[in-house]
Amino acid sequence: MTIPKVLGIFGHPVAHSLSPLMHNYAAKRLGLPFSYVAFDVEPDALKRAVESIRALGIVGVNVTVPHKERAAELVDELLGDAAFTGSVNTITNKNGKLVGTSTDGAGFLRALKSAGINPARKKVLMIGAGGSACSIGLSLLRAGVGELVVANRSEEGGKKMIGLLSRFGEISFVPSASPKAPEHAASADIIVQTTPVGMKASDPLPLAGIKFRKGQAVYDIIYAPERTKLLKLAEKQGAIAMNGLSMLVYQGSESFKTWTGKAFPEKEVLGYLKRLLREKSNGKN
Ligand code: ATR
Repeated sequence: MTIPKVLGIFGHPVAHSLSPLMHNYAAKRLGLPFSYVAFDVEPDALKRAVESIRALGIVGVNVTVPHKERAAELVDELLGDAAFTGSVNTITNKNGKLVGTSTDGAGFLRALKSAGINPARKKVLMIGAGGSACSIGLSLLRAGVGELVVANRSEEGGKKMIGLLSRFGEISFVPSASPKAPEHAASADIIVQTTPVGMKASDPLPLAGIKFRKGQAVYDIIYAPERTKLLKLAEKQGAIAMNGLSMLVYQGSESFKTWTGKAFPEKEVLGYLKRLLREKSNGKN
């Protein structure tokens, strides 16, 4: 019997994550001996969890909320976007050396482009300034956005992101609580939601007072639930509302290729996940 090679995800919470189903489906389709496991890692256990990658010979892991920035401090080397943003969503064990990268930005851009949206010269309002936001923000600035405005709850988080990314293009910060934040949303061509607000049914809108208009593109990186409160409102008001499923697949595709050297069956995986989510929401009704 072949001993499976272990892949996984570190997050907290992590039970909602579709990454295990997605990567295990892909490995099975391709006949690869990989097994992908969800590890619920409390913040104060992250250092030991990262050390365990080496000790257990784990091939690689994804890193999700709330560990992306701390993980960047714990790996041996940062490559690519992660070296600029200090945010890691992929750790690869290269013969005991832990290499941190981020596939979030590339995954997000591909998701946007697959929906026929080109962010070049557009005004983008980004809600949130955490690790995912920094990676997505970098990819947007590189793609030539006209203006990037970051609305964040804390001034500290917002200013940190501006400090990291201002050399890549036109970027500014507005506190989420400021009346200017929904004004920026109203004039933006694209709105990107990157906070965890919306994962729970009881969550408020991630930006109080936000209104949408026809033709605006709204991308929420949350995919569970399939439609957040924000996306439901956006759709109702005529905007193009997209959830994070496409970004999940494209960022996962990049990670999978790094770990296994094989191309990810993207279309099949996307179809599989859509079916799963549909069945789940039908089951609830
Ligand atoms: P990730 O690295 O996956 O992006 P994160 O680093 O935990 O996750 O970032 C979370 C982002 O969501 C931050 O912008 C955070 O805002 P603060 O800088 O003010 O902490 C935002 N966020 C998290 N919980 C929030 C909440 N309840 N309301 C508003 N913003 C929230």
